[in-house]
Amino acid sequence: MLILGLNMFHADASAAIVVDGEVKFAVAEERLNRHKHFGGFPALAVKACLDAVGAKISDVEHVAVGQDSDANLTKKVQYALANPSKILNFIRLRQRKEAIRDVRSLLANALEIDAGQLHFQEHHLEHHIAHIASAYYCSPWEKAAGFSYDGSGDFVSTMMARCEGNEIEVLDRVFLPHSLGSVYTMVCEFIGYSKYGDEGKVMGLAPYGKDTYCEQISRIVAATENGFQLDLDYFKPLGSNQGMQVLPDGTVQLARHFSGRMEKIFGQPRQARAEITQRDMDLAFAVQHRFEEIFFHLLNGLHRRVPVDDLAMAGGCALNSVANGKLFDRTPFRHTYIQPAAGDEGLAIGAALHTYHSVLKQPRRHELKHSYLGPEFSESSINSALQHAGLESRKLERAALLEAVAEQIAAGNVVGWFQGRTEWGPRALGNRSIVAHPGLPDMKEVLNSRIKHREWFRPFAPSIMAEHQHEYFEHDHPSPFMLHVYKIRPEKRQTLCAVNHIDDTGRLQTVTREENAMYYDLISAFYRKTGIPVVLNTSFNENEPIVCTPEEAIDCFKRTRMDVLAIGPFLVVKSGVKDPELASSSAEKQG
Ligand SMILES: [Fe+2]
Repeated sequence: MLILGLNMFHADASAAIVVDGEVKFAVAEERLNRHKHFGGFPALAVKACLDAVGAKISDVEHVAVGQDSDANLTKKVQYALANPSKILNFIRLRQRKEAIRDVRSLLANALEIDAGQLHFQEHHLEHHIAHIASAYYCSPWEKAAGFSYDGSGDFVSTMMARCEGNEIEVLDRVFLPHSLGSVYTMVCEFIGYSKYGDEGKVMGLAPYGKDTYCEQISRIVAATENGFQLDLDYFKPLGSNQGMQVLPDGTVQLARHFSGRMEKIFGQPRQARAEITQRDMDLAFAVQHRFEEIFFHLLNGLHRRVPVDDLAMAGGCALNSVANGKLFDRTPFRHTYIQPAAGDEGLAIGAALHTYHSVLKQPRRHELKHSYLGPEFSESSINSALQHAGLESRKLERAALLEAVAEQIAAGNVVGWFQGRTEWGPRALGNRSIVAHPGLPDMKEVLNSRIKHREWFRPFAPSIMAEHQHEYFEHDHPSPFMLHVYKIRPEKRQTLCAVNHIDDTGRLQTVTREENAMYYDLISAFYRKTGIPVVLNTSFNENEPIVCTPEEAIDCFKRTRMDVLAIGPFLVVKSGVKDPELASSSAEKQG
């Protein structure tokens, strides 16, 4: 049975194909059309899904969308009536949503076929149920607590659920305008980070701050018995889309969230390129602190209602890996399954799996243990791309390639590592990664000045062989999707100085051979040479969506000062790198 899942006309549009209950392929449209956080219709992703399983759209029996404009309609109408200035906006949004509900025409147009050829049944699933479904149905559990939180989706910001067998029973929703995601976004905007998705940057800035404003920020969001409530005086009225708008070209834009009250208390907002002051760092610290307090309050309340060890979680806020790393100390939950695509691209698999298990009552058999669900490229297409780019390469056997790349990393060189299928979700997890030595004091600066050009305060992440986690980190709960931040043990902080953040933490990826044999073996080869079972892992890109194709990887390699490219079985080394043997045997023609 073929089910196509979609997230469309919403940030991070995506498509996924589920075959007999197993997610066979999933990709965000941004990886294919190169438009970051693209929020239109995922036409290329749909085509890629069908091609990957050799199907035609006429073979698809069900199409599931992770959005339901009829969900929570009473609450939406009540909100619009209480805010007369928003009624017109509300009507416009309803009309637009009606138009985009015509999935049949949209698919027929995208695939250039007659709509009469389409025979699928259509399903619309509420946003946050799709988030929870994306985590729970991919988890190994038969019973779990379900939790989802973000800025907003179908007029809800937070959902708590009991998940058992094939069913997700919603226990509670927090309705707009109350949104923990919006609190974070509002403070991000105030300190000059106003783009969609900038919250992760501010999470990295937070530990540079101190407790100056925690009390003031805590007044913005109060805990209630089963949820939380915002003091709306700090916010501009945001409407039923909570200040997020998708422009006709698919660009996702945020409206200004903060009101004059913020300026009255904290002074002028920081402009995007202005210097970051202690005030900005202290505000970042305070918002992260309050976010965590409310998050743990919600989880503890959820655990009282669903007293189990296992927590299935998704939603954009579930990408807050700092909060995730602390939840084992602050709540009774003992295990997490956090969807690798916790943000809105994950809705595509959530909607599809919910249709299979809850609507169609099909049994659960498949656990999602890795994130490698995207496009892959043949050796011959990689070879053609290298030749077309005029790069000289050496083709190596697997073991020789691993040895050569580990040697390069150990020598302090920066390696573009392009192998296998593209990752699903926002993290590069060893298939579209840039890898480097984690223990060289200047490596962070080297990466930033030569390739990444990121803000100075953002940390780089470690990938560690899973069995060594306890030697290096103070927590041993696995983090296969790089979604937990843990303290690095004091005796290992020097060894991992390039990935040790200002608060002595690291956002680690635990790697097992079962999940990614090639990447595991690379780290293992580096371990044999250096005694360090860890490599620095950052996404393969330069201010763009993570590279997907060989051509994009080669282009990024050529235009940045990356030293080495390992792409499929081919090794390319730029002239002048530190390793003389490899440099002399495979100098490139241009670079
Ligand atoms: Fe969401």
